[in-house]
Amino acid sequence: MGGQLGGTPILVLREGSERTKGKEAQNRNILAAKTVASAVRTTLGPKGMDKMLVDSMGDVVITNDGATILKEMDIEHPAAKMMVEVAKTQDDEVGDGTTTAVVLAGELLKKAEDLLEQDVHPTLIASGYGMASEKASVILNGIAADVKADDIVMLKKIAKTSITGKGAEIGGENLIDLAVNAVSAIVDEDGSVDIENISVEKKTGANAEESQLISGMVIDKERVHPNMPKKVEGAKIALINAALEIEKTEVDAKIEITSPDQLKSFLDEEERMLKEIVEKISASGANVVFCQKGIDDLVQHYLAKAGILAARRAKKSDMEKLSRATGGRIVTNVDEIEDNDLGSAGVVEERKIGDDQMIFVEECKNPKAVSILLRGGTEHVVDELDRGLHDALRVIGVAIEDKKVIAGGGSPEVELALRLREFASTVGGREQLAIEAFADAMEAIPRTLAENAGLDPIDMIVALRSAHESGSKTSGLNVYEGKVVDMNEAGVIEPLRVKTQSISSATESANMILRIDDVIASSRSAAPPMPPGGMGGMGGMGGMPPGMDFD
Ligand SMILES: Nc1ncnc2c1ncn2[C@@H]1O[C@H](COP(=O)(O)OP(=O)(O)O)[C@@H](O)[C@H]1O
Ligand SMILES: [Mg+2]
Repeated sequence: MGGQLGGTPILVLREGSERTKGKEAQNRNILAAKTVASAVRTTLGPKGMDKMLVDSMGDVVITNDGATILKEMDIEHPAAKMMVEVAKTQDDEVGDGTTTAVVLAGELLKKAEDLLEQDVHPTLIASGYGMASEKASVILNGIAADVKADDIVMLKKIAKTSITGKGAEIGGENLIDLAVNAVSAIVDEDGSVDIENISVEKKTGANAEESQLISGMVIDKERVHPNMPKKVEGAKIALINAALEIEKTEVDAKIEITSPDQLKSFLDEEERMLKEIVEKISASGANVVFCQKGIDDLVQHYLAKAGILAARRAKKSDMEKLSRATGGRIVTNVDEIEDNDLGSAGVVEERKIGDDQMIFVEECKNPKAVSILLRGGTEHVVDELDRGLHDALRVIGVAIEDKKVIAGGGSPEVELALRLREFASTVGGREQLAIEAFADAMEAIPRTLAENAGLDPIDMIVALRSAHESGSKTSGLNVYEGKVVDMNEAGVIEPLRVKTQSISSATESANMILRIDDVIASSRSAAPPMPPGGMGGMGGMGGMPPGMDFD
């Protein structure tokens, strides 16, 4: 909207546009970002509180998950939206540590405010923060420990740390076991983990402890015909991405019927073709069929007669996972189906779960996709369990991929504060001030953990600092007893990436906000109307014009 032509500034702004410059713009941005941080900070840690979010349709979400809170909040200010992006990036990269990232970003900006007051230039602050962030990553790598992909005990600690204080905690040890076993099952040969290969089916009406891991898949479908077997042992599974019917258009185009005889022979012909489809499937040796498209009534009948269990209109994503779980190949042409296209499973069975029938594909050998059937009393409970489970799956996956873990409970942040202050003095100059501010900002994490647990934050910080000064790098906060303890012994363990990512994304966004000294917001009245349902699907970013009324 603004430009420079031969030294002549050109500015074309819509009438009603708002422009804020210099200190004013900076202050407003920082305030907006801090507001977002303070909205989520009370949820941090095992004793953090939950938020109840009500959207414009009156739908309620109760959660403790930073990324979810920010996603559901109707945030407008551009700088505040950048904070939402921090949470989103963190969530995409590691799936945990979102609140930490946002709290850190808010604290970095708060410290920057003090430096701006002292007339330290924002560029200098940003460069000091950048240096500190890089150094922080080196320090964290130095205090991280190795973990092996088969270290179940350690992986369980990681899963437990990520769901402590979340609604998902009610899932207890069972949920943690499920999560660890599920991820362990789907590790790729190259050591990478894609948790997309774990499908989570949510069903209300039972306790979280009744959740189960299926060594294969559970599909939210029922068999298409009541005469089909409910249970097939030694299942040979055909995965078909084609309609098991005669293409209607083809028929319409070619057939012109003029006599009853013709009609009969046409119907006979149609029946023969449909029967042939089933014969081909049967000839391949299949006794179970998952079809991504529809299945004609007659085909259903013949499949039932042939003793084949079939389900139709399976989701594409489920078909892909079925393929990974059973080793079968998805075929698009029934004529081509052969024995070696078929997947296998020890047993395929339709069972009633809650009010619905579901098909279990179990006892797969070495499945590369698995399912978790997640149970909970109510929708709200299962949804929060699902969010917690998702975080747990992610952190287990990240730990297996990176093979590096670090103690939590505020211990890495206290260690960083200590070591970065030492580092600052070696840098000197004005950047030293920024690095020191960065070091102070790190302590926002243990301080907030203490505050949220109703502990005296000053006492706790003092005790933590002194433990770290005397060399115990993994001393953190036992939030239940208000004591400083070794976090390795307490079993509070996180993947290294959760920490490094939260610090780097917090730094990046704080720096981005710091470098802005001009906010040009186009007129709000020119904005397109909100879509019906509004914020629900907003995802925080996009859609809304930048408004300036956050504060
Ligand atoms: N049992 C525990 N004792 C002390 N701190 C813990 C414990 N479990 C988790 N934490 C700490 O809580 C913080 C994470 O809190 P959480 O609410 O999950 O926020 P985030 O969205 O940043 O993951 C981390 O610093 C983690 O080390
Ligand atoms: Mg967490």
